[in-house]
Amino acid sequence: MASSSTAAPFRGNRGVGGIPAPLLSITSLCVSYGHIRALKGVSLEVNRGEIVVLIGANGAGKTTLLESVLGINAQVTGSVVFDGKSIRGRAADRNVRAGLCLVPEGRGVFASMSVLDNLLLGAHNNMRNVTAHLNRVYEWFPILRKRRDQVARTLSGGERQMLAIGRALMSAPRLIMVDEPSIGLAPIVVNDIFAILKKLNAEGYTILLSEQNAYKALQCAHRGYVMETGLVTLAGSSERLLNDPGVKAAYLGA
Ligand SMILES: Nc1ncnc2c1ncn2[C@@H]1O[C@H](COP(=O)(O)OP(=O)(O)O)[C@@H](O)[C@H]1O
Ligand SMILES: [Mg+2]
Repeated sequence: MASSSTAAPFRGNRGVGGIPAPLLSITSLCVSYGHIRALKGVSLEVNRGEIVVLIGANGAGKTTLLESVLGINAQVTGSVVFDGKSIRGRAADRNVRAGLCLVPEGRGVFASMSVLDNLLLGAHNNMRNVTAHLNRVYEWFPILRKRRDQVARTLSGGERQMLAIGRALMSAPRLIMVDEPSIGLAPIVVNDIFAILKKLNAEGYTILLSEQNAYKALQCAHRGYVMETGLVTLAGSSERLLNDPGVKAAYLGA
């Protein structure tokens, strides 16, 4: 597929000595909900052009991390640098305009609104080139064009996930964060969703996703971080993590 205005090339923004700077760099991130310490000093990087996955059981802190990067959580310390700029504490709408987006856990589509209106909501922070972005999303997901006037509650689970991803694409993101895309979907539909993420990545989108479905996610991603109770306990290439005995025992059912 030819690149277009929605595609986000991962060239440029060289760091020190011409080495490309990471698109997202998190250092010693701590997040609390009252007295609950959800993240206890997490550091990780996402380079331009990568798919990176956060693997972890329920409660590990994956959603907290993604929401904190987006700018939703209040009690945050540490550093979050996106595209060379510190964004910790910055409001989510500003971060979306800067190129961040989050496809939330459970999709977060508005069930009583039409597919088209859900998509248009994704562009509300950046109404430039809306028609081009919409056509682009319909190219990615022809089923959404077909169903554009239907209310979202009439969509299947897989179609809702496509709508949630399509809505994120409407904001012309440079980093797409996707929280547990496979949750609640049939295995064959999960394969479709991961195939879409890989295609988006091949077109230049950088992706950070979280998953409990470690096997399929690691097959899709370049690298991964294993999270346990608010900490990163292991990091490496997907191949390394797929072959790690601890990962196999805890997350791959081996
Ligand atoms: N809004 C909240 N209020 C209080 N505690 C929360 C809230 N959201 C998450 N937590 C707690 O923070 C920890 C991390 O949760 P979460 O980020 O949702 O993990 P995951 O997405 O990996 O399942 C858990 O102990 C969870 O109970
Ligand atoms: Mg979660």
